[in-house]
Amino acid sequence: MTAKSMRPREYLLCRPEHFTVEYAINPWMDTTKPVDTDTSVSQWEQLATTLKDLGHTVHTLEPEAGLPDMVFSANGAFSVNGTVYGARFRYPQRQAEAAVHEKWYRERGWRFVTPTHTNEGEGDFAYVPDRGLALAGYGFRTDVRAHSEAAEALHVPVVSLKLVDPRFYHLDVALTVIDDSTIAYYPGAFSQASQEILRHLFPEAILADEEDTLAFGLNLVSDNKHVVINTEATQLADKLSTAGFTPVTVNLSELKKGGGSVKCCIAELRQ
Ligand code: ARG
Repeated sequence: MTAKSMRPREYLLCRPEHFTVEYAINPWMDTTKPVDTDTSVSQWEQLATTLKDLGHTVHTLEPEAGLPDMVFSANGAFSVNGTVYGARFRYPQRQAEAAVHEKWYRERGWRFVTPTHTNEGEGDFAYVPDRGLALAGYGFRTDVRAHSEAAEALHVPVVSLKLVDPRFYHLDVALTVIDDSTIAYYPGAFSQASQEILRHLFPEAILADEEDTLAFGLNLVSDNKHVVINTEATQLADKLSTAGFTPVTVNLSELKKGGGSVKCCIAELRQ
């Protein structure tokens, strides 16, 4: 096994100051279960500290009252090579988040492409640097027409993958880019045809099982060496360490009530 070397990243996060579960737009959200916002903030702070301690740069968006899911900043855009393809949220409860992200990028001089089709940013798009291509999910949130729009905006090929299990409603809970050329995914989250496409493109992929995926194990961020993964996903963390990666765990139990974990809280900025 060759030693892994990390590549520092720039990330965009949003403190869950206004996090609650006051509507249910995915099967994990239960409006009758209490949410402790203070706990979610302290768990999120632990995540932000972990990323900084690993040597990454953490930028933050100002949280806004009335947008309880803003903490899931992965959904706000998808950037590749200095260009940002903006988001357009599926549900009205989150639609105002897109403009907050757009403003953030525009103020910092990014080339920003406004989408015409529904898409939830890095929730449904993943970039594989060594292949120069993006993988994209559809079936629950992102409109498949956004995939070709993103290809045109970002000048990269986009491979469409159909998600079929409502528990895994975004690509980033079913598939992760683990280093510049390797992915890990749960086949059962995808249609038969998409499973074949993934097998063909990534024969060396690390396969996760249903238990790993239900523990939000695939909802991780990697810097090619360290994998920041939630504490519940012990089985997947073991598999990744066998594959030569170094798992760094963070407890995000409170945010799980919103249907997300580590990756959902992080947008990667690719200059
Ligand atoms: N409650 C949010 C929603 O349903 C969770 C988003 C999770 N984000 C992600 N990138 N998977 O939209």
